[in-house]
Amino acid sequence: MSILGSLASRDRVFDFLVPADSPVDVRHGPILYLEDVTVSFDGFKAIDTLNLTIDDGELRCIIGPNGAGKTTMMDIITGKTRPDSGKVWFGSRHDLLTMSEPQIASLGIGRKFQKPTVFEALSVFENLELAMAADKRILPTLTARMTGEIRERIDEVLLTIGLVEQRQRSASILSHGQKQWLEIGMLLMQRPRLLLVDEPVAGMTEQEMERTAELLTGLAGKQSVVVVEHDMGFVRSIARKVTVLHQGSVLAEGSMDQVASDPRVVEVYLGAEAEEELA
Ligand SMILES: Nc1ncnc2c1ncn2[C@@H]1O[C@H](COP(=O)(O)OP(=O)(O)OP(=O)(O)O)[C@@H](O)[C@H]1O
Ligand SMILES: [Mg+2]
Repeated sequence: MSILGSLASRDRVFDFLVPADSPVDVRHGPILYLEDVTVSFDGFKAIDTLNLTIDDGELRCIIGPNGAGKTTMMDIITGKTRPDSGKVWFGSRHDLLTMSEPQIASLGIGRKFQKPTVFEALSVFENLELAMAADKRILPTLTARMTGEIRERIDEVLLTIGLVEQRQRSASILSHGQKQWLEIGMLLMQRPRLLLVDEPVAGMTEQEMERTAELLTGLAGKQSVVVVEHDMGFVRSIARKVTVLHQGSVLAEGSMDQVASDPRVVEVYLGAEAEEELA
C-alpha cells in the first residue's frame, strides 16, 4: 500500500477517537472567534471589548503584563468564566457562550494550566491511558480492538512528547519539564482541535524550553495552539503571530519584530531592557 493509502487507513482506524459530534466548521473562517468580549470583576474590567481570531492550525503567542487578562481570556474560552457581553465562537457552528465547561472540552478544546497535574502514583503510560478513559464518549464502547488502538495512540503520543523511554516510569520521578510534556500528552490523547497553554516553560531549564518549543511548533498545523508566556526568549523562538494584551484588550498584533518595536508595547510591557535584548 502507498504511504498515502496507509496514512488514510490509519486515520480510519482512529476514527472513533475523533469526537463523535465531530464538530468544528472552519470552512468559512477562523477556528476561534471572540468579538467585543467584556467581563468585570467587582466593577473592574478584566477583559474589555476584546476582539481576537485564531485561524485553524495556527500557533499564536499571547503576551502582556501581569493582570492583562490572558488567563481570564482562557477562562472565558473554556467556559469557566462567563463574559458580561460579547461573542465567543468555535468555528462557525458552536456558540461557546451557550455551552458548559464539559461540553466545550468535548468539542476538542484542551487546556493546560501552569501547574502540572499528572497522577504521581501512576506510570507515564497509565497517565495517558487514564486521559483517554476519562473521555466518556469512549469508555462505554471499549472493546479489545479499541484497547489495542488506544495503545497505539499512546505510543504515538509518547513519541510526540519525547517520553518513550519513560513510559513505564512513575510520573513522580519525572523532571518538572517532563511532567509538563506528559500533561500536554494527556490533552493530546483526546485529539483536541485547539490547545490553550498557559505559561508552559515557567520553571523549565534551557534544554527543556528548547524541547517544549519543538513540541509546540510541531503540534501547530495539526491543531491550533494558543500559548500564553512571559519568557520572551521562548516566545521569540516559537513566534509566528503575536498578540499583546493590555488592560483586557488587544494592544498590538503582528510578528514578534513588529510588536517588539511598537513603542506602546515597549512602554507597557517589554521595557527598555527587553527592547535591547530583542533588537
Ligand atoms: N475570578 C476573579 N475574581 C476577581 N478578579 C479576577 C478574577 N480573575 C481575574 N481577576 C483579575 O482580572 C485581572 C486579569 O487577571 P488575569 O489572571 O487574567 O491576568 P494575566 O494576564 O493572566 O496575568 P499574569 O501574567 O499575571 O498571569 C487581574 O486584575 C485579576 O486580579
Ligand atoms: Mg495568567
